[in-house]
Amino acid sequence: MRTKWIAWAVVNVAVLATFTIGLIAPASNLPSESLKRAWLPGETTHGHYQIELDCDACHDPSGNSSEPSASDVMQDACISCHGEQLELANDTHPSKKFRDPVHADLLNIINAQDCLTCHREHVPDQTLNMGLTLPSDYCWHCHQDIGESRPSHVGMTHDTCATAGCHNYHDNRALYEKFLADHHGASDHIEGGRVPHRQTRETLSRSDWEMVALSLEQSDAPEPVETTPELLQDWQETAHAAAGVNCSMCHGGSESKTPTATPWNDHVAMETCQECHAKQVDTFVTGKHGMRLGAGMSPMNTAMARLPMHTSSGGQDAVHGGAAHAELTCNACHAGHRFDTKYAAAEACLNCHADDHSLAYADTAHAALWAAELDGSGEVNSGVSCATCHLPRLESGEGVFVNHDQNASLRPNETMAREVCLNCHSLEYSLSALADPQGKTQCYGNPPTQRTKSVEMAHEWFEQQEAKRRARQKRSP
Ligand code: HEC
Ligand code: HEC
Ligand code: HEC
Ligand code: HEC
Ligand code: HEC
Ligand code: HEC
Ligand code: HEC
Ligand code: HEC
Ligand code: HEC
Ligand code: HEC
Repeated sequence: MRTKWIAWAVVNVAVLATFTIGLIAPASNLPSESLKRAWLPGETTHGHYQIELDCDACHDPSGNSSEPSASDVMQDACISCHGEQLELANDTHPSKKFRDPVHADLLNIINAQDCLTCHREHVPDQTLNMGLTLPSDYCWHCHQDIGESRPSHVGMTHDTCATAGCHNYHDNRALYEKFLADHHGASDHIEGGRVPHRQTRETLSRSDWEMVALSLEQSDAPEPVETTPELLQDWQETAHAAAGVNCSMCHGGSESKTPTATPWNDHVAMETCQECHAKQVDTFVTGKHGMRLGAGMSPMNTAMARLPMHTSSGGQDAVHGGAAHAELTCNACHAGHRFDTKYAAAEACLNCHADDHSLAYADTAHAALWAAELDGSGEVNSGVSCATCHLPRLESGEGVFVNHDQNASLRPNETMAREVCLNCHSLEYSLSALADPQGKTQCYGNPPTQRTKSVEMAHEWFEQQEAKRRARQKRSP
C-alpha cells in the first residue's frame, strides 16, 4: 500500500514539473508545445490560433507563475498588436469617446473600454465571426434612441445594425454617411476601371539604391556554390539583376559587398529582403501568412491551417502542384530566382488554397480580365487577380506598394470595397456584392442578388437636410 502511495506521489510531482517547465519554456520549444496545449482551456479564435501556444503574447508572464488565467490577460497586448490598425481605421468607438462625461454612463451598460467585454478567448461555442463573443444585439443597448431620431430607421430590429453594408463597430471608413452620400449615383461598372500602378522602386527602403543592371559575367557567387544555367538565367532576366542586386546581396559570401558580408548561405532570411523591402515585410508579419514569423515562431504551413488547403501532391491537387506542409515564407509566392509577381498573384495562391471561394475564382469575370491582362489583350492594371483583392496596392508617402497583409482588408469586408472595388465599381454595387450571402462562395462571379440601401438612405438624408436649409433661407430673407 505504502509503495503505491509513493509511486502515485512521484507520478504527480513528475506531471506537475513537466507542465510547469512547459509553461516557462519558449513557445518555439517543441517538447513543451504539447504540454502548453494541454493547459489551454479551449480553442482560441480563428484570428489567434496560429500563435495560441505563445501564451505570454496575451497573458502577463509575471502574473501567471502557476498558470495563465483570465485575470492576467493584458489589454495592453491587444493594443500593442491592434492599436495602430484601429487608429488607422478611425475607430468609431475608441476608449477616449467614453472618457467624455456625456457618454461615460453608457459604460455601466457595456464596458466598452475593455476589449475583453466583446472579444474573449478560449470560448469557441460563444465565438462569432471576427472573434466577437457578445450577442449581436448589443448596439441597441447604447443606441435605443436612433429609431426615434431617424425616420429611416423606424421599425428596424435590434440585431440589424451590424448586418453587412450598414455599420461596423470599429471601422466605418466606407460607411460614414458623408462617404456614402458622396458616392451616390455612380454607375455599377466604371468605364476603364484600373487599379493603381505599382512603384516598387520608389518604395524601396534603401532610397540610395543605384539601379545599374548586371550581366551574367558580373554575378558574384563564390566558386564552390553550385548553380544551374536556369538559376543564372532566371536571375539575369528579371528585376533584381536589372536593378543591380547581385547574388551576394541576398546570400552573403563576398567580403567587400554590402549589406551582408557573412559567409555564403543558400537560405535567405526574410530579414535580408527587409533591408530593401521593409514595407512588404512589415505588412506580411501582421497577417495570417506571416503572423507566426512575426511572433518569432516557425513559419505557418498548410498542415496547420483551419481553412481547406491542398494537402497532398497526388490526385486532383496535382493540377496545382499540391502543397502538403508548404511553408509561408517570402518564397511561398516568389518562387525561384524570377520573383515573378504575375505568378505570385493567382497561380501561387492556388498551390495552397482549396476552399470553395478560391476554387470558384477561375470561372469569374474577374479571372477572365486577369487572363486578358496576362496575354496582353487587356490593358495593364485592368485584371483582377487574387492579389488585386487580397494584397491591394496602396498609396504611401513614397508611392504605391503592395500591402502583404492579406487580412488588413479582409474583415470587415467593406474595407475591401474602399481600397479595391471602388477603382472599378460604384460603392453601392461593391457593398451589395460583398453583402451577398452567395458572394463569397462564388468568388463574386455573379451580380449581387439584392442591393444594399445605405447609399440611397444617406443620399436622401442629406437631400432632406439641404431642403430644410433652403426652406429656412427662404423664410428669413
Ligand atoms: C490571443 C491572446 C491569448 C493567447 C495567445 C492565450 N490566451 Fe488564455 N486567455 C485570453 C483571454 C482574452 C482570456 C480571458 C477570457 C475571459 O475573460 O473569459 C484568457 C483566459 C485564459 C484562462 C482562464 C479561462 C477561464 O475560463 O477562466 C486560462 C486558463 C488561459 N487563458 C490559458 C492560456 C494558456 C495556457 C495559453 C497558452 C497555451 C493561452 N491562454 C494563450 C487570451 C489568450
Ligand atoms: C462593444 C464591443 C467591442 C469592444 C469593447 C471591442 N470590440 Fe473589437 N470588434 C467588435 C465587433 C462587433 C467587431 C466586428 C467588426 C465590426 O463591427 O467592426 C470587432 C472587430 C475587431 C477586430 C477585427 C476587425 C477590424 O475592424 O479590424 C479587431 C482587430 C478588434 N475588434 C480589436 C479590438 C480591440 C483591440 C479592442 C480593445 C481596444 C476591441 N476590439 C474592443 C466589438 C468590440
Ligand atoms: C502578438 C500580436 C497579437 C496580440 C497580442 C493580439 N492579437 Fe488579435 N490578432 C493578431 C493577428 C496577427 C490577427 C490575424 C490577422 C488579422 O485578422 O488582422 C489577429 C486577429 C484578431 C481578431 C480577428 C480578426 C478577424 O478578422 O477575424 C480580433 C477580434 C482580435 N485579433 C482582437 C484581439 C484582442 C481583443 C486581443 C487581446 C486579448 C488581441 N487581439 C491580441 C495579433 C495579435
Ligand atoms: C457602450 C455603448 C455603445 C455601444 C455598445 C455601441 N455604441 Fe455606437 N456610439 C456610442 C457613442 C457614445 C457614440 C458617439 C456618439 C456621439 O459622438 O454623439 C457612438 C457613435 C456611433 C456611430 C456614429 C459614428 C459617427 O461618428 O458618425 C455609429 C454609426 C455607431 N455608433 C454604431 C454602432 C453600432 C453599429 C454598434 C454595434 C455594433 C454600436 N454603435 C455600439 C456608444 C455605443
Ligand atoms: C501570398 C503570396 C506572397 C507572399 C508570401 C509574398 N509576396 Fe510579395 N508579392 C506578391 C504578389 C502577388 C505581388 C504582386 C502584386 C501586384 O502586382 O499587385 C508581390 C509583390 C512584391 C514586391 C513588389 C511590389 C511592391 O510592393 O512594390 C515585393 C518587393 C515583394 N512582393 C516582396 C515580398 C517579400 C519581401 C516577401 C516576404 C516577406 C513577400 N513578398 C511575400 C505575393 C506574395
Ligand atoms: C533577391 C535575392 C536573391 C538574389 C539576388 C539571389 N538569390 Fe539565390 N536564392 C534566393 C532565395 C530566396 C533562395 C531560396 C532560399 C531558401 O530556400 O531559403 C535562393 C536559393 C539559392 C540557392 C539554393 C538552391 C536553390 O535553388 O534553392 C542557390 C545555389 C542560389 N540561390 C544561388 C544564387 C546565385 C548564384 C545568385 C546570383 C546569380 C543568386 N542566388 C541570387 C534569393 C536570391
Ligand atoms: C539589396 C536590395 C534588395 C534585396 C536584399 C532584395 N531585393 Fe527585391 N528588389 C530590389 C530592387 C532594387 C528591385 C527592383 C525595383 C524596380 O525595378 O523597380 C526589387 C524587386 C523585387 C520584386 C519585384 C519584381 C518585379 O518583377 O516587379 C520582388 C517580388 C522582390 N524584389 C522580392 C524580393 C524578395 C522576396 C527578397 C528576399 C528574398 C528580395 N526581393 C531581396 C532590391 C532588393
Ligand atoms: C504556402 C501556402 C500558401 C500560399 C502560397 C498562399 N496562402 Fe493564403 N493562407 C495560407 C494559410 C496556411 C493560411 C491560414 C489559413 C487558416 O488560418 O486556416 C492562409 C490565409 C489566407 C487568407 C486569410 C484567410 C482568413 O480567413 O483569415 C487569405 C485572404 C489568403 N490566405 C489569400 C491568399 C492569396 C491571395 C494568396 C496568393 C497571392 C495566398 N493566400 C497564397 C497558405 C497559403
Ligand atoms: C473580387 C475580389 C476577390 C477575389 C478576386 C478573390 N477574393 Fe478571396 N475573398 C474576397 C472577399 C471579399 C472575401 C471574404 C471576406 C468576408 O466577408 O469574410 C474573401 C475571402 C477569402 C478567403 C477566406 C475564405 C474563408 O472561407 O473565410 C481566402 C482564403 C481567399 N479569399 C483567397 C482567395 C484566393 C486564393 C483567390 C484567387 C484564387 C481569391 N481569394 C480571389 C475577395 C476576393
Ligand atoms: C480592376 C477593376 C476591377 C476591380 C478592382 C474589381 N472589379 Fe468587379 N468587375 C470588373 C469588371 C470589368 C467586371 C465585368 C463587368 C461586365 O461583365 O461587364 C466585374 C464584374 C464584377 C461582378 C459581376 C460578375 C458577373 O459575372 O456579372 C461582381 C459581383 C464584382 N465585379 C464585384 C467586385 C467586388 C466586390 C470587387 C472588390 C472586392 C471588385 N469587383 C473589384 C472590374 C473590377
